[in-house]
Amino acid sequence: MTGIKIDGIQISTKIKLQVKKKIKELKSRGIQPCLATILVGNNLASLTYIKNKHTACKEVGIKTIDHKLPQDVSQNDINNLIEALNKNDKVHGILVQLPLSNTLSKLETISRISPKKDVDGLTPHNLGMLTFGKKTLVACTPSGILEIFDHYNISIQGKNVVVINRTELIGKPLYNLLLSRNATVILCHSFTTDLKKLCKIGDIIITAVGNRQKFILTDYMIKKNAIIIDVAISRQDGKLMGDVDFNKIIKKASYVTPVPGGVGPITVAMLLKNTTIAALL
Ligand code: GUN
Repeated sequence: MTGIKIDGIQISTKIKLQVKKKIKELKSRGIQPCLATILVGNNLASLTYIKNKHTACKEVGIKTIDHKLPQDVSQNDINNLIEALNKNDKVHGILVQLPLSNTLSKLETISRISPKKDVDGLTPHNLGMLTFGKKTLVACTPSGILEIFDHYNISIQGKNVVVINRTELIGKPLYNLLLSRNATVILCHSFTTDLKKLCKIGDIIITAVGNRQKFILTDYMIKKNAIIIDVAISRQDGKLMGDVDFNKIIKKASYVTPVPGGVGPITVAMLLKNTTIAALL
């Protein structure tokens, strides 16, 4: 018996259809949703992510503004750009692609974004609201994972959910979202001792390590019928891969996301959804 391969393309198509409907409504009211992105430097992976985000925006009718800043941009200059975008009524969403260069402060930069335009749900205000169970703009990957659970009618109440990632983009918002659905969340990271033992008690495992030299999740590490969500993307021999040993895991798990075609397209669709929410705000 094998588990179900989660269809990220199908879920993202469904979300994009809803977004297109909302955009039609917005346009009929004279509002053209617009997302401004800021990319510092020329990290190849980040360039690809940004390009994909712009393409997806165009597909559903969201206007985009592309700011590419040099690696050595000063904190002052990026702050000023964000302030200008905050003030621009025609811009509804602002996304600063991470990671930033070492000379910039992530906290100082992100904090500048108006919470109403924070389509990544990364500002201290929006992350703080999430801890109170108030969801306005929520990080795209974590909210996309909830879309997966809803699409497949998976209840997470009372389940042990092991999350392997503690970033502001993934682990921290996920922790609060899962908690708000009454899951028992075990948040793991690079200092976690005996990760394998913790994985074994996971009814659901959400993994986002992205380094297959350090970590691969395989069949003997999971409980039978566990649900496995693979958020990671790394390149191996020119091939996109996640954290999961897919061919082995699918024989033991009840559901597994593939890479590519799993969480990735849903994350992009959630960015489009957040941009329309921001346009409504
Ligand atoms: N870097 C990798 N993924 C993301 C994302 O979803 N948002 C931002 N801002 N940076 C990223």
